[in-house]
Amino acid sequence: MKLDLALDEQDDTQDLINRRVYHAKGIDKTYQRVALNRAETLALLKYQTTFANRDVLDVGVGAGRTTIYLAPLARRYEAIDYSPVMVDAMRRSWPAVSTSLADMRDLSAFAARSFDFVMASNNVLDAVSHPDRLRSLAEISRVLKPGGTLMFSAHNREFDERLRKPHLNWSRNPVNLSRHALTWARQHFNHSTLQKLHAEHGDYALYSDEGHDFACLHYYIDQRAQRRQLQHAGFTLLEVMDDQGKTLSGAEPASESGWLMYIAKAGELA
Ligand SMILES: C[S@@+](CC[C@H](N)C(=O)[O-])C[C@H]1O[C@@H](n2cnc3c(N)ncnc32)[C@H](O)[C@@H]1O
Repeated sequence: MKLDLALDEQDDTQDLINRRVYHAKGIDKTYQRVALNRAETLALLKYQTTFANRDVLDVGVGAGRTTIYLAPLARRYEAIDYSPVMVDAMRRSWPAVSTSLADMRDLSAFAARSFDFVMASNNVLDAVSHPDRLRSLAEISRVLKPGGTLMFSAHNREFDERLRKPHLNWSRNPVNLSRHALTWARQHFNHSTLQKLHAEHGDYALYSDEGHDFACLHYYIDQRAQRRQLQHAGFTLLEVMDDQGKTLSGAEPASESGWLMYIAKAGELA
């Protein structure tokens, strides 16, 4: 992995790193599991009226983990992903679903105010740089109808273990131990390559983490900064949940939650 890029190319670098993971052959297999986690389950139950019988856009759909829950209830369901591998997997698993190869930074394929609900599950927004995140939020705000709902998760900058390094899992079984050792070697290589790109900024940080064996560079943000960012894009934050689905007041740091679930409403005056 060659990453000798200049600092002013950092935005492109993050995209390059993450794109390499998400466009890799066979990456869809990682996302074939259909189970929702606890926060997603509670959030979808609680906000069901905002997507049932309504027009839904699933951004960065992956292999369709959320499709099984959203598509049958929606009036219109559109899925997009920028990875041809994910789009192919979607089209194989969900031939009746409208899936497009599209980038969340440019939703020009969709008219303004055309959706009631946008889902961006599993930290999709964290795959792109800070300017591109703001661009994506502005695009999502544009395609949502006034009063429409955005549900997404984001890595939590206040997570105690956000800087966790690769760890070798011990086993008495020699086959398992050699498997663990291979995983550790891969993670260690990725982590040592990307660690030099870790960055702390006022409103966010960039870290490589356990996701995809430390091969991605993810955006981390805390609740207060995320609230400001949403307001700037014309949203009102309705609720933040930790990864167990517990509603947070905003004052609690949620230091045990690797990511947080956000539910926001698009500006009614937009
Ligand atoms: C962590 S996976 C989550 C997949 C799915 N949402 C889920 O919950 O299982 C992130 C997904 O976002 C997609 N993605 C990343 N950047 C994107 C972008 N700029 N535009 C559209 N999709 C993107 C990736 O290809 C990948 O499928």
